[in-house]
Amino acid sequence: MKKIAVLTSGGDAPGMNAAIRAVVRKGIYQGLEIYGVSNGFQGLMDGKIEKMELGSVGDIIQRGGTILFSARSEEFKTDQGQELAIKQLKKLGIEGLIVLGGDGSFTGALKLTEKGFPCVGIPCTIDNDIPGTDFTVGFDTALNTIVEAADKIRDTATSHERTYVIEVMGRDAGDLALWSGLANGAESVIIPERDEPFENVIERLKRGRARGKKHSIIILAEGVGSGIELGKRIEETAGQETRVTVLGHIQRGGQPTGSDRVLASRLGAKAIDLLLNGEEGMMVGIEANQLTQHKIADILSKPHNLDMSLYKLMGELSI
Ligand code: ADP
Ligand code: F6P
Repeated sequence: MKKIAVLTSGGDAPGMNAAIRAVVRKGIYQGLEIYGVSNGFQGLMDGKIEKMELGSVGDIIQRGGTILFSARSEEFKTDQGQELAIKQLKKLGIEGLIVLGGDGSFTGALKLTEKGFPCVGIPCTIDNDIPGTDFTVGFDTALNTIVEAADKIRDTATSHERTYVIEVMGRDAGDLALWSGLANGAESVIIPERDEPFENVIERLKRGRARGKKHSIIILAEGVGSGIELGKRIEETAGQETRVTVLGHIQRGGQPTGSDRVLASRLGAKAIDLLLNGEEGMMVGIEANQLTQHKIADILSKPHNLDMSLYKLMGELSI
């Protein structure tokens, strides 16, 4: 393999740039030509492919977002779209593709591999919802964004003796909610993976106030429902003045943390190694601090498992 392309797809994640840098630098180190595709699979079909040099990825390791831009493309889901994408790659003599994204993007990478074009995936999403890796690139940064925001909310919550519901992202996964709940000392965390009776939430709130707590913070994963609705219900039922903050896309931006930059660098370099070893249709990951690899087909057929020991710990510490 002499020429490899890289693209970013789906929701962006802080650390994607560090992963692009690692792919480009490790590829060139190995004597390859590396090409960057703009705007994900849509850009691939449109032939937006340019050769990258060492300097193309200078000064980006610390930047959020993705210098290659991201996109969501319905057209690429069709056989014709995928064939067109492969045609564009072959036109430039490119023989392998590295896809940075989440499970949707990996489905696209798998489709191309099944059509004879070797792809490798790097898990990049703030949701941390990909099996076969303990962490995805972007999760740690988003977690720290939530932690900082919730600390600020706690200040004003205390001043006004209010209850706060903070709705966080995560799509169908509760990782961001659970980890931030633990990190922020929240009263309750409500996640899709666990059916928490509403009465328990209310009970904990009342108990907290009875022992003199000046504020209460509840972290709600977006996959469960609306924070606004929950806030109204809490105010009516618990009789506590309640405010709601929906953190939204602020969670997707910002400088990647050191951990995300290191993870992205390790996974990016490993993706190059896999393609050079002739491995295709694989995803690179990190498990127990070791770099690992799994077939994308296996990853897509498995559910994401949240570490429920953290949920138990949360319950023990928020009594
Ligand atoms: P993420 O990768 O973050 O999960 P999406 O689910 O939006 O994001 O997927 C990103 C892109 O991957 C889609 O816009 C589409 O181009 C491609 N993709 C998703 N599902 C498929 C599919 N079933 N077949 C081919 N491509 C797909
Ligand atoms: O997958 C990342 C994510 O930020 C999810 O947490 C969220 O549900 C979704 O993307 C939001 O997507 P959009 O950028 O299309 O609003």
